[in-house]
Amino acid sequence: MVNLVEKKIEQYIDNLKDEKIKGLYKKLPSGKRLRSKLILKIAKNEQAVDLAAIIEMIHAASLLHDDVIDDALTRRGAPSINALYGNKTAIMLGDILYSKAFFELTKFSDEIAKNVSNAVTLLSIGEMMDVDLTKAFNTDLDIYLDMIYKKTASLIEASAKCAAILAGKNSEAYALYGKNLGLAFQIVDDILDVVSDSETLGKPVMNDFREGKTTLPYIYLYNSLEQKDREKLLFLFKKEASEDEKMWIKEMMDKTGAIDKSKEFAKRLGFEALKAIDEGDIELKEIMKNLIDREY
Ligand code: IPE
Ligand code: IPE
Ligand code: MG
Ligand code: MG
Ligand code: MG
Repeated sequence: MVNLVEKKIEQYIDNLKDEKIKGLYKKLPSGKRLRSKLILKIAKNEQAVDLAAIIEMIHAASLLHDDVIDDALTRRGAPSINALYGNKTAIMLGDILYSKAFFELTKFSDEIAKNVSNAVTLLSIGEMMDVDLTKAFNTDLDIYLDMIYKKTASLIEASAKCAAILAGKNSEAYALYGKNLGLAFQIVDDILDVVSDSETLGKPVMNDFREGKTTLPYIYLYNSLEQKDREKLLFLFKKEASEDEKMWIKEMMDKTGAIDKSKEFAKRLGFEALKAIDEGDIELKEIMKNLIDREY
């Protein structure tokens, strides 16, 4: 069924009748299609395929803008659109994908259209908070959780909720599942930035701290370091670290248990997600497990 989503997105891009946009869009590889898979596990009808295509276009738009914001030169294992054609093109292509997605969203009920568009507003507010938080070394867990809820979990929450509405299932329960899944998903993304390599991930690694983003592993690390090491970490904040300095950060992440604690946190959210829905739903359990254990 995910194939049908690909076809639908292609059709939407074709609708635009613009060869340049078509060519640019082809430069963006598909990604994991996590949000589509989630939607199609909850609702298995034509409308769900359509909703998944819309959500993937919104997600792609958010990534185009995010790579400009984060100065990221790779995405999905290829050079990012900003790396290939500059920031202006990446922003404009993002705008086109957003607005086409919203146009197609008007086919749906008010309830669905409002839930999805509200999530995109939250996503954008979350991205802005993420950038604002780089002004100083943030160690406040609640602020971090609020920010990742907005920038990432809100769209996953809306995806699960709207799919449930389409399938006539309990939408509030699925919304809660999606919210916790989305929070866990961003925490795992933040862990992968530290522990993975750019080949596996298909995007830059050790980029968050350089950009001033003190994600959950960094919050735990800071809190468990002695004064001298804390000062060293603060010195590296928002800097282009050398290979040795990056190695030191990774070693300290290991030694202090900052990575393990972050993984535990994500796992707990994953279990919370499952509590919200029918725990016998093997497919949704699988999605959660794969998300926690993923390597990219
Ligand atoms: C990346 O999302 C941005 C985050 C919310 C962490 P994905 O990891 O779902 O990206 P793709 O679609 O698979 O490339
Ligand atoms: C961005 O988070 C999530 C979005 C809402 C686009 P990140 O900046 O951590 O995402 P990646 O790591 O670049 O995919
Ligand atoms: Mg980014
Ligand atoms: Mg970002
Ligand atoms: Mg990231």
